Amino acid sequence: MCPKRLIAHINHVVLAKGHPRRHLNHKFWARKPHNVVEEYIKHYSKKGEIVLDPFVGSGITAVEALVLERKAIAIDLNPIATFITEMVAKPADIEGIKEAYEKIKHRSIEMKVKSRSDDPKIFIGEVYKSIKGGK
Ligand SMILES: C[S@@+](CC[C@H](N)C(=O)[O-])C[C@H]1O[C@@H](n2cnc3c(N)ncnc32)[C@H](O)[C@@H]1O
Repeated sequence: MCPKRLIAHINHVVLAKGHPRRHLNHKFWARKPHNVVEEYIKHYSKKGEIVLDPFVGSGITAVEALVLERKAIAIDLNPIATFITEMVAKPADIEGIKEAYEKIKHRSIEMKVKSRSDDPKIFIGEVYKSIKGGK
């Protein structure tokens, strides 16, 4: 039989701080304060261990676990929650972003010449339609 590991529980107040940018790319009303979650992860796990959140929501626990060099398992009934979590956790595709930016820039210059409108909303709509339509 394994000896039980005794853990002294956190018995102090952890004051919530504002959210860092990595957690502000979308609205999520039930988002927990990242610094409180961070304190729990540091206290109750070691680097390399697995943190499981079966109600991951916006992904605070999973993302903070990765930042703190733990592994993370994120589950949620709502596919939007797991999608948001995955998008925040995944490294950005910098080359893909540059490529998309260049495509939009190029198409904007091309269309500015042809556009019949000076209204920026209509112009952006035309650029979007043209890229989406693959023209
Ligand atoms: C309060 S939110 C979690 C918020 C999260 N701690 C955060 O900081 O963003 C609760 C989540 O549990 C999910 N949920 C509710 N019932 C569930 C179930 N039976 N199985 C899996 N996920 C469930 C909801 O979809 C929701 O995203």
